[in-house]
Amino acid sequence: MIRELIDDLLDEAAARGDLDGVADLASPLPVTVICRVLGVDTGERDWYRTRSSMLGGAVDPYLAFLGVPAPGLAERRRAERELDDFFRRLADERRRAPRDDMMSRLLAAEIDGAPLTEEEIVTTCRLLLNAGHETTVGLIANGLLTLLDHPGTLAALRDDPAATAPAVVEELLRLQPPLQIVHRHAREDMEVRGIRVPRGTTMVLLLAGANRDPGAFGCPHRFDAARDDASRHLSFGLGAHYCLGAPLGRLEAELAFVRFAQRVVGPRLVDAPPRYRPHIVLRGPESLPMRTEAILGRATPWRSGSP
Ligand code: HEM
Repeated sequence: MIRELIDDLLDEAAARGDLDGVADLASPLPVTVICRVLGVDTGERDWYRTRSSMLGGAVDPYLAFLGVPAPGLAERRRAERELDDFFRRLADERRRAPRDDMMSRLLAAEIDGAPLTEEEIVTTCRLLLNAGHETTVGLIANGLLTLLDHPGTLAALRDDPAATAPAVVEELLRLQPPLQIVHRHAREDMEVRGIRVPRGTTMVLLLAGANRDPGAFGCPHRFDAARDDASRHLSFGLGAHYCLGAPLGRLEAELAFVRFAQRVVGPRLVDAPPRYRPHIVLRGPESLPMRTEAILGRATPWRSGSP
């Protein structure tokens, strides 16, 4: 399904004759994938309206730093309620006629013999949508940007995807983490490396900084797809809240990079350096307009060993 979607998106760009790595690939792919997984019909207009108003404020940098929400909370709450109504309607539909999707499975699931409550189902869907969308957009967009500077790696992705793609994705996650920061609240007085942290303190944890710790990674600022310890990065978090969608995020990125390398010939960035989104937690370029020599057709074979 993901392969088909990527080919559809590249076909659209090829038909138009230009390619923006964010608008045409990185941005539409993850939301469509997570919608398909959840069972949302991506053609619904109503859906798109609520989605766009919601996703803009899904990760709140104010909350991470100051412990208070960013301005516009009322609007975000309203969008959240609209989204919840949408998922409630979807739950009703699937209750009547289950399909092979996540919503139907959540409705059928039991914990200790009891089904999930409607609130649990609705908030789980909202979490999956938010957590699975912007992060993966960032990974693909940051990744494309880095790969444009490394044509040798793009050629290796094209010619030997099985040997190259997993390591490239890990190194891109390490070097360019889409989610730069997470935060924690101390539930009790504690000490972290000799620093006293009183109960109730908000701690800001810089995943991006840890990924470039020279004590952990040699030449940490260099992109090196051959390093053997890149997967020790913290880009999916660590411990109890380790990213639930890590395998899906990795798969989408591997497929996107490999197919980009196979179908897009001679890509070059039009505006270098690109503008980044003004966001302190989510890091990624706003757009990546490219010039290309050609975008090959979808008949281009997926090489053996493609993810
Ligand atoms: C490449 C893309 C992704 C990155 C970089 C990423 C990153 C992260 C990070 C850093 C956390 C930990 C947050 C914390 O500790 O406070 C997390 C949690 C989570 N992620 Fe992802 N994520 C990605 C893709 C996805 C996808 C595709 C999904 C869903 C399909 C997803 C679902 C979740 C969920 C549900 C959690 C919360 C887990 C929990 O609290 O137990 N993520 N993610």
